[in-house]
Amino acid sequence: MKSIMIINSKGGAGKTTVAVNLASYCALKGFDTTLVDLDPQRSSMQWLKARPLSKPLIRGTTNANKPIKKGKNNVVIYDVPAAIYGARLVNYVKKVNSVVVPVLPSPIDMKAAKDFIQSLRSMGPVIRNKIKVGLVANRCRANTNIFLELDDYLLKEKGMKYITALRDNTNYIKSARNGLGIFEMGESATAQDREEWKPLVRWLELK
Ligand SMILES: Nc1ncnc2c1ncn2[C@@H]1O[C@H](COP(=O)(O)OP(=O)(O)OP(=O)(O)O)[C@@H](O)[C@H]1O
Ligand SMILES: [Mg+2]
Repeated sequence: MKSIMIINSKGGAGKTTVAVNLASYCALKGFDTTLVDLDPQRSSMQWLKARPLSKPLIRGTTNANKPIKKGKNNVVIYDVPAAIYGARLVNYVKKVNSVVVPVLPSPIDMKAAKDFIQSLRSMGPVIRNKIKVGLVANRCRANTNIFLELDDYLLKEKGMKYITALRDNTNYIKSARNGLGIFEMGESATAQDREEWKPLVRWLELK
């Protein structure tokens, strides 16, 4: 079983966007996929509600402790609310094999991400022995100074892999509205997004 948590203490970084697109990718690839929405806003569950019945099944739950099948073909994706710190953060992160942290190109978000990543790192042995942490730049606009700054910063974070940069694009807005992932949308319109996701699904060993 693969268990993946999308987390960042900062609101609006793209946790739900990454979680639902990852869930749709996994379902499409034939994994038995569960999306666990731990956020009282329930954005992931709303996305799931909008999902057409004709699309590959994604199980949804809001119960962090629901027993989940541990088969080889099972993937569990946790969408976590903002502002999780301290013991709660440790308890959450301990549930999974992989953690993905989306970060926006903005000075405020980068400062918050630095602090958050430091709190993950301070879990020391928990992270080192069991859990891999990957960083994803989100809502990027090529050739902007702030994106170059974010890119540079994420590359320098030690012990954590800077996996990919996802562009700022309305495909994600459409995907949020329709209960779909970018991999389920028009191939030519999403070609660049699909390319940008490749390193992430490879890093998560979902290819
Ligand atoms: N790459 C992207 N391109 C365009 N819009 C995006 C992208 N990523 C996220 N968004 C939009 O940004 C907003 C915030 O994203 P999202 O809800 O995924 O963040 P979040 O981290 O889950 O927020 P919260 O902390 O409130 O749970 C949403 O409206 C979403 O559709
Ligand atoms: Mg969210």
